[in-house]
Amino acid sequence: MDDCPHCVWSAGNPGNNENTVYYYQGRFTVLDIPHNENYARETSPENNYLSKILETKMADAFQSSSIYRQYINSQVITLDPDNDSVIAHIWLIFKSPRSMKENTRRRIETILHQTLNNHSGSLSIDPTSLSLTEISKTTAEKIINNRCGRRARMSATHDRVRGGSNAQEGEWPWQASLKINGRHYCGASLIGKRHLVTAAHCFQKTPNPKNYTVSFGTLVTPPYMQHYVQQIIIHENYIPGEHHDDIAVVLLTEEVPFQNDVHRVCLPEATQIFLPGEGVVVTGWGALFYNGDYPLLLQKAPVKIIDTNTCNSREAYNGMVQDTMLCAGYMEGNIDACQGDSGGPLVYPNSRNIWYLVGIVSWGEECGKINKPGVYMRVTAYRNWIASKTGI
Ligand code: ARG
Repeated sequence: MDDCPHCVWSAGNPGNNENTVYYYQGRFTVLDIPHNENYARETSPENNYLSKILETKMADAFQSSSIYRQYINSQVITLDPDNDSVIAHIWLIFKSPRSMKENTRRRIETILHQTLNNHSGSLSIDPTSLSLTEISKTTAEKIINNRCGRRARMSATHDRVRGGSNAQEGEWPWQASLKINGRHYCGASLIGKRHLVTAAHCFQKTPNPKNYTVSFGTLVTPPYMQHYVQQIIIHENYIPGEHHDDIAVVLLTEEVPFQNDVHRVCLPEATQIFLPGEGVVVTGWGALFYNGDYPLLLQKAPVKIIDTNTCNSREAYNGMVQDTMLCAGYMEGNIDACQGDSGGPLVYPNSRNIWYLVGIVSWGEECGKINKPGVYMRVTAYRNWIASKTGI
C-alpha cells in the first residue's frame, strides 16, 4: 500500500521527509548598464547575453552550495531596462522536504545575496534590491509558457521525418498539424497566441480557410486542441510550382490558451546568423520514408545546417538553393524531413536552451537521398515580412 504514489521518499526516513517541489519568483537590479531598450526584447542579443551571464552565475552558485541537491532550475524571465540599470526578473525551482521548506528558502536567499554581492565578474549587482517570493506551480508554469521557445517540463529529454524517433509529450509545444477536412496535410509552427507560420505550397489544394483546422500535441488523430482558421496570408511573391518565397502566415479564429504542451517558439532576429554545422531539429507527422507510411506520433530528427555552397554543388542542388533558403540534413542522406512535413519547424536551441525557428520545411528531392538534403525557407530572411503581417 502506497498512500502517496507521487512522493519521492528519501531513503531511511519515510513519513516526514518527502520532497516537495517549490517555485519562486524574484528580482534584483544589475547596476551600471548603459540604457538600452533592447534589453526588454526577449530575443535581442543584449537580453540573451546578460541573461546567460546571470543564469550561469546563479546555476554555479546553487550547484556548489550546500543545497545543491535541492536545486532544480533557475532562469532569467525578463529584463527591464531602468535608467542606468537593468532589473532582472528570475524564476527558480527547488525541491525539499516540507519540514525544511523555510530553511531552504533562507539558504536560497543567502546564496543569491552572496553571489550578487561578489564583484568577481564585470557586473555589479545591488544586493539590497533582491526579493524572492514563493509562487504556485500553476503560476510558475504560466510564466514559462508565456515566454517563447521554452519547455515547462524539466524532465523532457533534450535533444515527414525520415530516420527520426518519437517525440515526447511537451517536447515541441509549438508544432501544429494543419489539416484539410480533418486529415493531416502539413506542419506549422505557433509563433503567437493566434498566429502560425507554415509553407505557402500547403494552400495550393484550396485557399479557403474553412477547409483547414489546426491541432497540437504529439498524437495527430484524434486532434488535440482543435482550432479553426480565420485567414491565410501567402507571401505575395510565391508562385505555385516554384520553390522561392514558400511561406505563409495563418491567423486562427481564436487565441490558443498556452499550456505546458502548447506554446510559441521564438523567432530569430533578422540579423541573427546560424552557421553551417550547427545542430538543429526537424519535427513533423510526415512520411517515414519517401512514399512511405505516416506516423500517428510526432517524429523528431536531429540534423545539421549545411553550407549553401555545398548544397548548391553540381551533385547536390546545382544552384537551386537561394539566399532565402537554408539546407539542413546530411550530404550522406538518411535523416531528413519528408512529404507531409512541409510547413513544419526546423528549430535551434541557443546556449540557454531556448528554441528558435530557423527554417520552414519546404522542398527536397525525395527524402534522405545522398546529396539531396532538405531545403527550408530561411526564417531570418522573412523575419520582417512575418512582422509586417502579424505584428510579432
Ligand atoms: N514538399 C514536401 C511536403 O509538402 C516536403 C519536402 C521536404 N523534403 C525533404 N526531402 N526534406 O511535405
